[in-house]
Amino acid sequence: MYLKQLNVHGLRNLEDVQLSLSPGANLFWGANGSGKTSILEAAYLLSRGRSFRTRHLRSVINHGKKDCTCFGLLSTDERQGYPIPMGVNRDVGGKFTFKVDGEPIRTASQLAETLPTQLLNNDSFQLLEGAPAQRRSFLDWGVFHVEHGYRSLWVRFQKCLKHRNSLLRHGRIDSAQLAAWDREFVSLARSITRQREEYLEQLLPTLQRTIDRLGSPGQMEFNFHAGWDTEKSLEQILADSRERDRLLGRTQWGPHRADIRVRCDGRIASEVMSRGQTKILITALKLAQGFHFHKVTGRHCIYLLDDLPAELDANHRSRVGRMLGELGVQVLVTGVDRASLEQSWLDPLSPAGGGAPHRPTVFHVEQGTVSQHSMV
Ligand SMILES: Nc1ncnc2c1ncn2[C@@H]1O[C@H](COP(=O)(O)OP(=O)(O)OP(=O)(O)O)[C@@H](O)[C@H]1O
Ligand SMILES: [Mg+2]
Repeated sequence: MYLKQLNVHGLRNLEDVQLSLSPGANLFWGANGSGKTSILEAAYLLSRGRSFRTRHLRSVINHGKKDCTCFGLLSTDERQGYPIPMGVNRDVGGKFTFKVDGEPIRTASQLAETLPTQLLNNDSFQLLEGAPAQRRSFLDWGVFHVEHGYRSLWVRFQKCLKHRNSLLRHGRIDSAQLAAWDREFVSLARSITRQREEYLEQLLPTLQRTIDRLGSPGQMEFNFHAGWDTEKSLEQILADSRERDRLLGRTQWGPHRADIRVRCDGRIASEVMSRGQTKILITALKLAQGFHFHKVTGRHCIYLLDDLPAELDANHRSRVGRMLGELGVQVLVTGVDRASLEQSWLDPLSPAGGGAPHRPTVFHVEQGTVSQHSMV
């Protein structure tokens, strides 16, 4: 699966860009502020219905325009020769339209299902260094894409949590009502936790292999934490912490507090690893998810790598390039320096399912316009 075509109109400084993309690596190089990240932002918008840079999509729309549009043609194995058209439009008034295969769709999760993407950018450091929410969303990406029904489970849990919290904030709590919500909460919490745990367990061997190949600073450990003390029953924990929950006005324990605790040689990884080592580990996590996703579903996700060369030496850049090649995925990658980008892809990428390797396509980005070059 890959984006054959990506057209962008009115997104940041990209007024009118039409790209015929390679099924393998697509390298975008250009000066600071030329529009490289905006191209990845456009592909991300198409795949998630939101930006990775801002919550306010209005700021994404080109200052001189009334709306922005991203359009893609998605080539898939199931529909060879008939790519799936996908489109996202957002106007300054806030109207948002998503379309897949000519049909309007209601939720962004349908975009994500059609076009799964993995993003690696400066914010990805948060996966190791940031709050547990970052690691939960990493886990949930995986479970969502391999387990049907996970999203609806998650939506039900969010609603239940919201109801329980609003009940806790009421002056006088109706115990019977709270008990009913607690039963629902515990049952959903168990299902979510079981699926997250199983996913991480299945991912770990692939993750370990990926880390070994990319180069590890030490013995890595990934321990799942459910979001409460699993030595005790969640029912009991909810009952015991009810008074404090009421004072705080929120539920303290549950899957909304889950985490993956990462250690390197027995120490908290984020406290001992260098910037480059952290980037390598994060890249390994995202690559492992792509390999696992392919193993379980037979499908591929698309990798968006913003400023890949930053923090990585030439050796690690080419290891990343080689592994993406083995995975046979489409990659959109940016960098300011053409040579260091190209060096990462000296080995042509092997397409999924065999066949002749793909040569990378090189694009030069200049003040919002993009031109295609051949690789030197
Ligand atoms: N709404 C907007 N309308 C027009 N231009 C915008 C808008 N928002 C941002 N820009 C401009 O778009 C340009 C593209 O930014 P982008 O972040 O894509 O550049 P980049 O090539 O990734 O740069 P860098 O190498 O510094 O990361 C910038 O010059 C920015 O000032
Ligand atoms: Mg950028």
